[in-house]
Amino acid sequence: MKVAVLTGGGDCPGLNAVIRAIVRRASEHGFEMMGLRDGWKGLLDDNHFRLTRETTSGILHRGGTILGTSRVNPFKVENGLERVKRAIERNGIHAVIAIGGEGTLSAATRMSEEGVRIVGVPKTIDNDLNGTDFTFGFDTAVGIATEAVDRLHSTAESHKRVIVCEVMGRHVGWIATYAGIAGGADVILVPEIPADLEAVAQHLQRRNAGGRTFSIVVVAEGTRIKMSAEQGEQLITSGALDEAGRPRLGGVGNIVAQEIERRTGFETRVSVLGHIQRGGAPTAHDRVLATRFGVHACDMVARGEFGRMASLRGNEIVSERLSEATRELKRVPKEFFEVAQVFFG
Ligand code: F6P
Repeated sequence: MKVAVLTGGGDCPGLNAVIRAIVRRASEHGFEMMGLRDGWKGLLDDNHFRLTRETTSGILHRGGTILGTSRVNPFKVENGLERVKRAIERNGIHAVIAIGGEGTLSAATRMSEEGVRIVGVPKTIDNDLNGTDFTFGFDTAVGIATEAVDRLHSTAESHKRVIVCEVMGRHVGWIATYAGIAGGADVILVPEIPADLEAVAQHLQRRNAGGRTFSIVVVAEGTRIKMSAEQGEQLITSGALDEAGRPRLGGVGNIVAQEIERRTGFETRVSVLGHIQRGGAPTAHDRVLATRFGVHACDMVARGEFGRMASLRGNEIVSERLSEATRELKRVPKEFFEVAQVFFG
């Protein structure tokens, strides 16, 4: 039985660990494995190669994806579905394992409704996918962001500055909340709560009056800023669109820093972590989660559990409906964020 694997969307620490786990388990099931290059493009363009124990050895700890990735959505390409179906038939592919985030798994859900045999694996550093408690890649991103916040503390303290650290996460504040709590941030701004920069400035002034001469502000890239009554809330984007046609986020840290300095007079600097959060070796936690997802996904193919994805519930790996992943964004719950707020003193 031939099974194809693809990785779609942004690269993410742990993708190679999933691929390796799938291939290793596949050999026990007697599957022939095929790697599709650059996400769905691999099927659209019939671009693939054989995955074997040899071609997937030594990749467990490596960041990125040996398959390559893209945000190409077959449903936004002319005759995309037909081209995918034709490639599947021509190559005798029994099933596809799609490893990806919101874009990849929503395409996988539609594809499965169109009769393609698909199993999903949820990935994203943002941890915004519904239907699973955590995604792999998130722990690595949080570790990198936490280390950055620790390092920024040294300079903030020595120079008596405010330092704003902008982290990724798209429209949710998981990375910001985790790295903020772990790094002891004095303010955390997340997309779940529009930011009132006057309130932030007053808070920093109170801290300063209380003898705390420096502050660290962690801001998630998707945080909306409360403007005037007429302007409402503003999402800061670079103005450009990504491959999937979504606005590219980034830049909110600069606005937050400028506004803090203007309102308080405190010297304020900004550090944007960007893709550093996504690159390099996955943490041990992410390698283990990715490996468990890969083995489970392969077993799902063997059991014929299509239209579903591997998912983490508590400490169990279970199968969840693919459509659950993108039914809604998994936001940071209010009660969770309230723990972070205890330390905004
Ligand atoms: O979804 C992962 C992510 O890193 C987001 O946190 C971020 O907004 C986006 O991808 C950046 O994507 P790109 O690599 O296209 O700049």
